[in-house]
Amino acid sequence: MCASNEETERVTTSHTNVGDAQVPAKMAIPELLDMKRQGTRIAMVTAYDAAGARLAEAAGMDVVLVGDSAAMVVLGHDSTIPVTMDEMLFMTRSVSRAVRHCLVVGDMPFGAYQVSDADAVRNAIRFVKEAGADTVKLEGAGRMLPRVRAIVESGIPVMGHIGLTPQSVTALGGYKAQGRTATKARKLVEDALALQEAGCYSIVLEAVPTPVAARITAALTIPTIGIGAGPACDGQVLVYHDLLGLTEGHTARFVKRYADLATVIREALAAFVADVRSGAYPEERHTYGMPADELATFEAGFDGDPSA
Ligand code: KIV
Repeated sequence: MCASNEETERVTTSHTNVGDAQVPAKMAIPELLDMKRQGTRIAMVTAYDAAGARLAEAAGMDVVLVGDSAAMVVLGHDSTIPVTMDEMLFMTRSVSRAVRHCLVVGDMPFGAYQVSDADAVRNAIRFVKEAGADTVKLEGAGRMLPRVRAIVESGIPVMGHIGLTPQSVTALGGYKAQGRTATKARKLVEDALALQEAGCYSIVLEAVPTPVAARITAALTIPTIGIGAGPACDGQVLVYHDLLGLTEGHTARFVKRYADLATVIREALAAFVADVRSGAYPEERHTYGMPADELATFEAGFDGDPSA
């Protein structure tokens, strides 16, 4: 599909100079919508610190999500429930500082928006004002639609998230695919349309059958970002640690590991331990000297007594 002249101009002029490097300008929501219209797939990954975010941006990522998956992959909890607003803000700040182009999405943690619209708006504002996020994400439709409307009305763009919504894992009966009966699949389509109507600029579809995600994607004018939702989505997202092979043991069926960094890191750390034990590290080139006359004066101060 062809972009209009105006759309083409925005895409082709969206670069800024940072030092000597040409950095594409900040990803804008209209640009994401153009990508859907033009059939250019959107790449999104989670990031939780400056180093990861910088690498994601350098790799050409469009969107970085400071996901509440941090509760599990960074903080070591066994679900996403315990991560707090303050912990999410801490991580979001380091991600925002590291990127210039990627859209930064702060994931509203459990408890940050469930109680009231006022809470939801207050916490969304904290993500933007205190942590530099560009937009926020929240899970669910139905009861959450007024929350979406309230946050959008406050001027903050909202990404929705339906299908497997990990903050409701107990109610859903575990980490399993959603929308696998005709009735439940229809409900997902209705939820997606309702989220679009409420003002979401994009929706994550997690662990949803491919034909259902395809229907939703075709029905919406806003982009869908899939994770375990098949190839018809307008974009794809993976958790940083899963993609890079930093999580060991069982991973979900939809995870594709693009590297085995756990092995690389473990071997490097083990080599360091071995070098420390054997004295192979540090070598001369890792050390600092001092001028010979200063050294002589320093040594003379001990008057030949090495223990002095
Ligand atoms: O928290 C997260 O990492 C997410 C992605 C799975 C979309 O919500």
